[in-house]
Amino acid sequence: MHVRLVDKPPQEVRTFDEEDIAGKLTPEDVETIREIFHTPLTGSFNWDYDSANAKIRRLYELGKVHNWNSTLDVDWDAPCDMNDFPMIETIGALNGYPEYEALSHEEKVRFAWKGHAQTMSQFLHGEQGAMLVASQLVSCAPTADAKLYAASQTFDEARHVEVFNTYLRRRCGMMYPINSNLKALIDKVLADERWDLKFIGMQLIIEGLALAAFGTQVRTTKDPLLKQIVELVMRDEGRHVAFGVNYLEDWIKALPEQEREDRAEFAYQACTVMRDRLFGMDVMREYGFDVEAARKYILDSQVIAMFRELLFERIVPNLKRVGLLTDRVRPKYDALGALRYEDAAGDTLIDWGMLERPLPTKENLAAARVAAE
Ligand SMILES: [Fe+2]
Ligand SMILES: [Fe+2]
Repeated sequence: MHVRLVDKPPQEVRTFDEEDIAGKLTPEDVETIREIFHTPLTGSFNWDYDSANAKIRRLYELGKVHNWNSTLDVDWDAPCDMNDFPMIETIGALNGYPEYEALSHEEKVRFAWKGHAQTMSQFLHGEQGAMLVASQLVSCAPTADAKLYAASQTFDEARHVEVFNTYLRRRCGMMYPINSNLKALIDKVLADERWDLKFIGMQLIIEGLALAAFGTQVRTTKDPLLKQIVELVMRDEGRHVAFGVNYLEDWIKALPEQEREDRAEFAYQACTVMRDRLFGMDVMREYGFDVEAARKYILDSQVIAMFRELLFERIVPNLKRVGLLTDRVRPKYDALGALRYEDAAGDTLIDWGMLERPLPTKENLAAARVAAE
């Protein structure tokens, strides 16, 4: 067994060959790369084992019913044209940008797949972060219901890590390093000792971000495999956010004012990072683009505008519901143009009908195709 300790995430792009993809590596071929983090976690036992929150218990039950299996339920053989763009090209964020337009059609397609691999890699790394935080919530959540729920979420996140890892290896053949701003956000949530800040950071902010990014993919991808994976993952994430919002509401409102303001400021800072600083520039750097000019250009693009709408539409009503849209931070959200979403539906009311409908498994999708014919 080879173990390499690192003090920051690897910076290089990894590529996978046929053997990697076929899962034929021997233990000697695999290198374990570890980056250590420390956390002052304060945990609790709960000796009552009582169910105090019927909604949380119902979400937990639903998680057990909808426990899809990435090995059996995903159609890994769904075909995809690798000589075509991975997403609808008319909304490409760099369309019209001179350095991009100077590329040939083939180069643009190659560029797009690299950019796609970079985005999918952030999904993968983010899911790992979610798995680590969810496992912390098992220890530090204050009630018995929430511990059971967090335990089931931990397994959901493990499946998410599994599907995005497999997708990157099989479909993209490459993996990009984690974006430094995403890593900083996950580090903050993992290393903070306040359990409720972990809940805010993970269940509202990072999960809200994930839902916005997944929603953008579902609307724009041309790859049927990715669409299926993302729809399966979104079903779980919808439950996770519903759990966070419904659980946090009573706790946050009971905090002393200054502590609530601290959380509100944290949530706002996280939103600004997610809005502008999570777009990977690795591929543009690789092609020698002027990175800052390109960043400015894509921030004005249609696809990023779609992402931003989805982001604020998801997060802002949830922050309001749990009491984190305080008078002190409201003007800051207003400056971001985000306040108009404060009364959107968000996830504040659990839509049980949405959460309970049949999963888009391989079997269910095939049955639906037959029915349609
Ligand atoms: Fe997840
Ligand atoms: Fe999640």
